[in-house]
Amino acid sequence: KNIALVAGGYSGEYVISVQSAVTIENNLDSSKYAVYKIIITKENWSYTGADGHVTEVDKNDFSLTIAGKKITFDAIFIGIHGTPGEDGRLQGYFEMLGIPFTSCGMVTSALTFNKSYCNKVVDALQVVNVSKSVHIFRDQPYAVAEILQQLRLPVFVKPAEGGSSIGMSKVKTAEELQPAIEKAFKEDTQVLIEEFIKGRELTIGLYRANGGITVLPITEVVSSKEFFDYEAKYTPGVSNEITPAPVSDEITRLVQQTATILYNKLNCKGITRIDFIYEEASGKLFFLEVNTMPGQSENSLVPQQVRASGQTLQAFYGALLEECMK
Ligand code: DAL
Ligand code: MG
Repeated sequence: KNIALVAGGYSGEYVISVQSAVTIENNLDSSKYAVYKIIITKENWSYTGADGHVTEVDKNDFSLTIAGKKITFDAIFIGIHGTPGEDGRLQGYFEMLGIPFTSCGMVTSALTFNKSYCNKVVDALQVVNVSKSVHIFRDQPYAVAEILQQLRLPVFVKPAEGGSSIGMSKVKTAEELQPAIEKAFKEDTQVLIEEFIKGRELTIGLYRANGGITVLPITEVVSSKEFFDYEAKYTPGVSNEITPAPVSDEITRLVQQTATILYNKLNCKGITRIDFIYEEASGKLFFLEVNTMPGQSENSLVPQQVRASGQTLQAFYGALLEECMK
């Protein structure tokens, strides 16, 4: 079968996407799949052959023509974090073309990619706690004093549509809020400001394959930095990621059940990683975010969880592909 592995993207997560694609490509069974890695940037969508020859994708049908021979794809393995591979844009395009792909569909991808709208929908589902937040827009007036009245410090300031903590700050004092908002607006036109929840950061990958949902082991993230920022996420040793998380059976069940309900209610497909904070003082679980194209680099969480589950990455990526082609 011909598989296009799309990587790169238009955002600051380009570098991580290329690393994720290396893991995915190395672990796709080459006896079953002919994998064409296509790098998507704003400038071009292209495939570089083993001989160094670069071929542009025909966007009318997402095909390649190499040495006069047209190649079409049986499925797309989406390996792009951020726009346009995690926010529904490519999903909508591939849905229009009728080519199966490994991630959530257009609507789920777009909804979950916007942390602010996703919070509102998850809150309405009433299955998990959602931190109090304010959603502001670059082209609409907002008042910092008002935000400070509505929310209790510390708060997190995040570009509403972003990833890998790029443009994000933890704000502890009133004076730091305005600069943090400006920093986030450099990345996005919408910003989410949400109350910090003190607790244990727990994250869990789930995917649909072989007739059911598989819940991977939970990871606890213990960051030696103020929060699990870009450096802590991708520099080995800066954060301690423990899989399976050393939490009680009760907390394990709570996280697994909540994540499964969210996966179903948000109509997720493929591998999705859902992040939570468990507030020990109250015993409450708080929702953080849904990642519909979670990192697959060597240091990323999902590959750790797959290995901890006793499965090979090859079986895992193969199962994702087979599921989408059903
Ligand atoms: N946004 C990064 C890639 C993640 O969620 O793993
Ligand atoms: Mg994320």
